[in-house]
Amino acid sequence: MHIVLSESKSEAISTVVEHLLDFISRHPTAVIGLATGRTMEPLYELWILEAQKRRIDHGRCFFFMLDEYVGLTEGHPSSFKSYIEKRFQAPLGLRLDQFAFPPAHLEEGAAMYEELLKQSGGIDIQLLGIGTNGHVGFNEPGSLQGSRTRIVRLTEETREANRSQFDGEMPRDALSMGIATILDAKSLWMLVTGKSKAPVIKYLMNHHDDPDCPATFLKFHPHFNLVLDPDAASSINLKI
Ligand code: GLP
Repeated sequence: MHIVLSESKSEAISTVVEHLLDFISRHPTAVIGLATGRTMEPLYELWILEAQKRRIDHGRCFFFMLDEYVGLTEGHPSSFKSYIEKRFQAPLGLRLDQFAFPPAHLEEGAAMYEELLKQSGGIDIQLLGIGTNGHVGFNEPGSLQGSRTRIVRLTEETREANRSQFDGEMPRDALSMGIATILDAKSLWMLVTGKSKAPVIKYLMNHHDDPDCPATFLKFHPHFNLVLDPDAASSINLKI
């Protein structure tokens, strides 16, 4: 695990964006795994800004979404598909056929998604956030290291954390890449910002291979980069 301690939230975000843009410039057909959540909102803003400024062509990249809620209607404003379309695909002028979203409306969606990932040749860079309970994607506590894309039941803690994004009923389930699916990516970049994540980062530092905190399964990935802002790193004893 490679830990990057940043001096500010904006530096943490810019570290990840710089890596993405550098990689895409050198590998125009890059396959990137995208994550959602509030943490990622400023990351997409900076990514778009810098890509436009430097005229970095993303026209041959392909993007896989990490997870999606089950049971939402097509085009639902709180779906992760809408999130990515609004915050990334449309502003950057990318085509929708450059994106794969977990087909959460299909019974065989999990198997189809795994097949699509295989056909793509694999993800080069997987972006990740972390839930306060240690979830990655929607791999909630109890998820196993060998888990692959599947329908998962959301915990009450996760539903509570995301409820504000829903006007009506909050979904109970999601289709998420599994831990083993995430571990297949060639490199993992986890961005963690804010005080609310300090306890889970402390837990992550002190445990490994612990289903109570699924993020711990990522620690032995050969290219796992954990980028922290000072608030997220405030409960651990590491110096810049
Ligand atoms: C979400 C997503 C995760 C995300 C996490 C943290 O619901 N499924 O991919 O990393 O929870 O979200 P936030 O950045 O809003 O804290």
